[in-house]
Amino acid sequence: MTPEQILDEAFDNEGVAQNHRDDIKAYLHALKNRDPKTYEHSIRVGVLASRVALYAAKPGISARMLLWAGLLHDIGKTLVRPEVLTKTSNFTQEDYAAIEPHVQYGWDMLNRVHDWTAYIIVRHHQFRAKPYPAELPPLPEYLRDKAEIIQVAARLCWRLQIFLTPSPTGITTGTATSPLQLGKNAKSTCGITPTRENSLSFLNQLAC
Ligand SMILES: [Fe+2]
Ligand SMILES: [Fe+2]
Repeated sequence: MTPEQILDEAFDNEGVAQNHRDDIKAYLHALKNRDPKTYEHSIRVGVLASRVALYAAKPGISARMLLWAGLLHDIGKTLVRPEVLTKTSNFTQEDYAAIEPHVQYGWDMLNRVHDWTAYIIVRHHQFRAKPYPAELPPLPEYLRDKAEIIQVAARLCWRLQIFLTPSPTGITTGTATSPLQLGKNAKSTCGITPTRENSLSFLNQLAC
């Protein structure tokens, strides 16, 4: 299956409305034009996240919510220079400085358009040794009682993207030796098609 077929199947599985499919595809299309590998990474994270949500069965965490968040967690990379985005080694401080704002960019792209996803993805780098951004936008009144759900969803996205990152292309993986190793295994076993087995394997390793 092509990444696009996998994406359509995931939309079907989660009953995503046509107007929302169009939105997500438009975002992802721009990301694909920037860097096809980041585009495929986003589909992997989104589809596996939706599967994991099913098996994790955490209160309030739906497969559709994690599909959205996983697909769009790195959407801000659309605004990062391709020469930085496609680099795979010898990262400089300037490279880090160029890529870290992708979280803020993603927030800016989704805030007030797709709020739930925006509040999840703005947290997806909060679980590393040096979290960024340094300050998070406060949750609005209508989401205050969803703070725990948003935090758990963001953490799942963070751990999943490490699980599925075979090399430190994301710069984000430097603090996670064990999950990085998992990522190497995942590359050969799950490609772009997450299975029940690797979803469960992820959950077992996550131990959460
Ligand atoms: Fe990211
Ligand atoms: Fe990512």
